[in-house]
Amino acid sequence: MCSIIGYYGNETAAPILVKGLKRMEYRGYDSVGVATENDNEIEVKKGTGKVNEVNSKVQLDVLPGKIGIGHTRWATHGKVTDLNAHPHPSNSGKIAIVHNGIIENFEELKNQLESEGYSFKSETDSEVIANILQKNYEITKDVKETILKTVSELQGHYAFVAMFENGQLAAARFHEPLIIGVGQDDFFLSSDVLGFIEYTDDAIYMENGNFVILEKDKFQILDFNGEHAKYGITKVSKEFGDAYKGDYAHFTLKEIYEQPETILKAGEKTADEIKSTADYIRHAKNIYITGSGTSYNSALIAKQILSKYAKIKAEPIMSSELQFSPDIIEDNSILIAISQSGESADVLDAVKIAKKANCKIIAIVNLLTSSLAREADVTIGMNCGPEIGVAATKSFTSQLVILYKIVKYLNEENLKIDFNQTSQSIGKILENPTNVQKTAKELKDISDIYVLGRGIHYPIAIEASLKLKELTYIHAEGIPGGELKHGPLALMDDNVFVIIINPNDSTYTDTLTSAREIKARGAKIIGISDVQSDVYDYWIEIPKISESEFPILEIIPIQLLSYYAALEKDTDPDYPRNLAKSVTVK
Ligand code: G6P
Repeated sequence: MCSIIGYYGNETAAPILVKGLKRMEYRGYDSVGVATENDNEIEVKKGTGKVNEVNSKVQLDVLPGKIGIGHTRWATHGKVTDLNAHPHPSNSGKIAIVHNGIIENFEELKNQLESEGYSFKSETDSEVIANILQKNYEITKDVKETILKTVSELQGHYAFVAMFENGQLAAARFHEPLIIGVGQDDFFLSSDVLGFIEYTDDAIYMENGNFVILEKDKFQILDFNGEHAKYGITKVSKEFGDAYKGDYAHFTLKEIYEQPETILKAGEKTADEIKSTADYIRHAKNIYITGSGTSYNSALIAKQILSKYAKIKAEPIMSSELQFSPDIIEDNSILIAISQSGESADVLDAVKIAKKANCKIIAIVNLLTSSLAREADVTIGMNCGPEIGVAATKSFTSQLVILYKIVKYLNEENLKIDFNQTSQSIGKILENPTNVQKTAKELKDISDIYVLGRGIHYPIAIEASLKLKELTYIHAEGIPGGELKHGPLALMDDNVFVIIINPNDSTYTDTLTSAREIKARGAKIIGISDVQSDVYDYWIEIPKISESEFPILEIIPIQLLSYYAALEKDTDPDYPRNLAKSVTVK
């Protein structure tokens, strides 16, 4: 999504804002802009492209003033153009705003404002906020009253920061993240702690329906009724500031390579939470598991391992679909919500629906301060550190490990898994990527890849195809092996590559047969297996391990393959086009 940032302090604001925006670029990166206030004047600089590109074009970081706001955009309303980039000044130029979210009634508000003589430069929904603020400020002459009146008129989801010409900053939160960083002599407003972690680790996670007004040396946090709101200052783990690529060319590569360690940290020190989750599972009428994107693919795996190793039935639900069939959720049940960020709007909506039906919520989440963690009855942390690459990699394997730990707790006898062994095996795959790199070269000019797997390997095939799509923009599709003859075989010809996920377990022989059927139609076969076969045109070897560990292991070479194919295709693996890491709008 978009990231918003604000600075109020004693330092020159623009360079601080630009640095913060750079760190939050994973949230949206099609345009960027900064505005500062100096001597009662607001100046705006913005443009399309990533932070560094726009900065070298227009010098975003060269603006006077110690108060400022900034934004990176992920377009929802209006194309990617300079005019649609934030900040948006109001008509008078005396107020400027940055916004993350969607204003659902913006057309109505825009029509009303236009009939009163206001004009609009952009196609965005956000620009209405600037002009409503102007209108209300001209009436009330008071920032607090202006915000109260404005939020009562806005419908939708939003977090915005408004900068007034008199040097006041105000920010409101409604179903989008907003955090205040409290420094020694300055304040930060940000969508993510990464926006200010370099300067302070004292943070206030603003509650939904609250707003803040910053003035010289003080701030007040109020609710949407104008009453003082309660808040607490939290120490943010400095580890979240550790978002540097180090010697790696990209965050995505670094995050793939962190997995031997991150899987060992997943769910660390959460024995009590795992026990409570297992208790909830044992006593629940129904078990639902939800997530979006990669996290949903973990839910698909969860269903399989719960039934295979603990004989427990669970229903995976795509978070974005639940609102269309909320009656699926029965009371006295539990919802396991999986989300790296804990801020995906669809997941939070699913939680809302489940809570309405009196379900208990178990969150598997990386950001322990996220909205999801705060909504949950039990929270299990992935502990995998910041994941900046837009395509999820290490968070996926951490989610799997936590799910395995829950199942292991439920039936220790049935599920024998040694995560140290898994970690070593991942290390082995990563040790020598030459073969994967060579195979990636072959994918450069192809337009279709299919990934085939059976049983528990089918959800991995879906996750593999998601990685390929996100990173390479090649059309990719997961196929359940047995369904090949029921349709997908019609697509096979010599322009196609098929990745066969084929570890030597109970699915092996049938999957090998599928590979032969595909090969007979001319398609090229990439085999991911611990056993070599003549059917593979390219064999990517994975270590031999116990059957239960294969899903965690077999996704690793495909993450790597997607990464190296992205390099071949000259796409940016960290920031795939049109995507954002944390989708906080619906
Ligand atoms: C976006 C990202 C995906 C991610 C999904 C769910 O679509 O691009 O990489 O899997 O959101 O994110 P979450 O933070 O809820 O796990």
